[in-house]
Amino acid sequence: MDWMKTYHEDHKSVLVLLAKFTGNILDLKAGLSTPYTFVEFKEFADVINNVIIPHFKKEETTIYAEIRKKSPAGSDFIDEMLREHEELYTLFDAYAHAVEIQDTEKIIAISSRLDHVLRHHIMKEEDQLASFLK
Ligand SMILES: [Fe+2]
Ligand SMILES: [Fe+2]
Repeated sequence: MDWMKTYHEDHKSVLVLLAKFTGNILDLKAGLSTPYTFVEFKEFADVINNVIIPHFKKEETTIYAEIRKKSPAGSDFIDEMLREHEELYTLFDAYAHAVEIQDTEKIIAISSRLDHVLRHHIMKEEDQLASFLK
């Protein structure tokens, strides 16, 4: 299925970008950031807006809705995934704002939760989501 391929490719791209993001956060913490580090923080904010948020919205109206209809277990799983989307929307807003005002401490403070929740969310979808579609 085409959408399934795009869905998986999005996950892979985001994991690669998250690794780069983590590296930039380490530079920032070590006092080794350059103006380019902030260019990359802004690029990551753009990816959130142009790729990740549309990906979430699409999941919510397609695959999540489909799984919810299939079984109570699937419905519980989707409740959990939607809670994670909500937390991530809040983190994305906070991150975009911190990058806009170049608030280094705020970027660091938000980054570990954002990285953790987003990474686990993607891994859960990759590992478990298909089993609810059978
Ligand atoms: Fe998701
Ligand atoms: Fe996803």
